[in-house]
Amino acid sequence: MFKHNFLWGGAIAANQSEGAWNIDGRGPILLDYRTAGSKESPRMLTIVDKDGNPGMISTRRGTVLPEGAQYAILDDVYYPSHEGIDFYHRYKEDIKLFAEMGFKIFRMSICWSRIFPTGIENEPNKEGIEYYKNVFKELHKYNIEPLVTLVHSEMPVYLEERGGWENRSTIKYFDHYAKTCFTEYKGLVKYWVTFNEINNEVGMLEMFGNTANHETYQMAYQRLHYQLVASSHAVKMGHETDSKNIIGGMICGIPHYPGSNDPDDILLCRHTWEKAIFYCGDVLCKGEYPVFSNRLWNEHDVNLDITNQDLDDLREGTIDLYTFSYYMSNVVTTHEVKDVVSGNFAAGARNHFLKYSEWGWAYDPKGLRYYLEVINDRYHKPIMITENGLGAVDELDDDDAINDEYRIEYLSDHISEMHCAVENGVNLIGYTAWGCIDIVSMSTGQMSKRYGFIYVDKNDQGEGTLKRIKKKSFYWYKKLIETNGEIL
Ligand code: BG6
Repeated sequence: MFKHNFLWGGAIAANQSEGAWNIDGRGPILLDYRTAGSKESPRMLTIVDKDGNPGMISTRRGTVLPEGAQYAILDDVYYPSHEGIDFYHRYKEDIKLFAEMGFKIFRMSICWSRIFPTGIENEPNKEGIEYYKNVFKELHKYNIEPLVTLVHSEMPVYLEERGGWENRSTIKYFDHYAKTCFTEYKGLVKYWVTFNEINNEVGMLEMFGNTANHETYQMAYQRLHYQLVASSHAVKMGHETDSKNIIGGMICGIPHYPGSNDPDDILLCRHTWEKAIFYCGDVLCKGEYPVFSNRLWNEHDVNLDITNQDLDDLREGTIDLYTFSYYMSNVVTTHEVKDVVSGNFAAGARNHFLKYSEWGWAYDPKGLRYYLEVINDRYHKPIMITENGLGAVDELDDDDAINDEYRIEYLSDHISEMHCAVENGVNLIGYTAWGCIDIVSMSTGQMSKRYGFIYVDKNDQGEGTLKRIKKKSFYWYKKLIETNGEIL
C-alpha cells in the first residue's frame, strides 16, 4: 500500500513549457539558442562568428564557442523554447486540469534568468518574482503542493558565456538566486529540488563513446563539484530560511546491468553505478565524497579545486529527500557491442529481454523497482520519483480523442513495480509523472515526443492552436490518484 498521504502529481520544467522567453524582464538562457532536432538529427546552438556570419555549433559538452563568436538568434530558424506550450500565460487553465486529475503535488522549475536576467544583479526582477508567486498561489487554491527545482538544465546565458559552472564565482551568484527564492516564496513552497539530474554532468560525457579526454573530464568533474557545493549551500539556506522546507537533490536514475556474467562485466557494472549514480548520491546524502572518488579522478588524471570550506559545506548541507528520474535501464559490457542503443544520458548494449520506445529508450518497469530498492538500502532517506513516463507519438482520432493505451500500460507497469518496492520496505513518498502536459522534448526539441495526460495542439514546426485536450490517460490517472494507486 502506498502511504495514505502519498504525493501523486506531475512534473514539467520552465524552459520546456513556459515560452515567453523575452518578456517581463526575462534574460536569455542557452536553450533559447537551441534549434529543434529529432532522433536522427541533433539539436544545435545558433551563433554568429567574429565577422557576423551566422552558423551553428554542437550542443555536446566540451564544444566551445569559436573565438569571437557569440550565441545569436537567427532569422528563419525555429526555436522551440521561445513559445514552449505557453505555460507562462496559460498556467491557470493548466493547473485547473491538474486539479481535476487530483494532483497533490506539481513539480516545476524556476527560470533563473526570470529572477536575475544576467545572474549578477543585486535586485531581482520584480515581474519574475511575481509570476512564480502567482503560479504557487494558483496551485494552493487547489491544495496542490508546488515542488520547485531551482536549476533545471539552465542558467542565464550571461553567466554561461563567462564559463558558467567552470567558475567558482558562479556559486555566489547561485547562492544569491537560491536565497532570494527561499525568502520570496517562504510559506508558498515547502518542497524543493536544488539541481535537476546533477549526475549528468559527468554521465553525459560517456554517452558518445570515447570522445571525452582529460580536459573534458577535468572540466566536468570541476563543474560538478561547484554545483554540489552550491547545492549544499541551498540546503543550508533553505533550512535556515524556513525549518519546514524539505530539500531534495535529484539524480538521473539509470540502473546499469552487466552484459554477461564475465567477472569483468560485473566489475564494470559496479563501477558504472559508482561513477554515474553513487558519486553524486553519496555527496548529496552523506555529505562527503565516497572512497572510490580517487579512483574515478585518477582514471582521467583529474585534479580538483576543493577547499576545506567546501568539504565542511558538503557535510552540513545534506539533502532531506532523494529524488530521481526514471525512464530506462542500460547494459554495460567489456565485450564488443554490435547493437548499441542510447537513450536518456546512457548508451549501451541492447537488452534482448526488453522492448524499446520509438526513441530507443528501454521499457523496463522492474528496473524502477530495482533502482528504488538499491537507493533505499544505501541512503535510508525518503524517496520521490520526480520524473517517469513514456515519450510517444499521439494521434487524434476523428472525434479529436487520444486513445493512449500504450502510455497507460507503461505507467501502470511502472507503478505496479513501485508498489512492490513499497511492499518491500522502500520509503517512497511521492511520484510526479514527467511532462504531465505535453511539452517540448529536451533531447530532440520535438513536440511529437509526448508524455502528457493532456495533449497540446502544436507540431514539431511550432504550428498549432495550443489548445489543450484530455487524453484517455487523463481519466486513468485521475482514477489512480482517487484510489491512491490501487487501480492499475
Ligand atoms: C530528463 C530531463 O532527463 O528527461 C527532462 O530532466 C527531459 O528535462 C526528460 O524532458 C525526458 O527527455 P526528453 O528528451 O524525452 O524530453
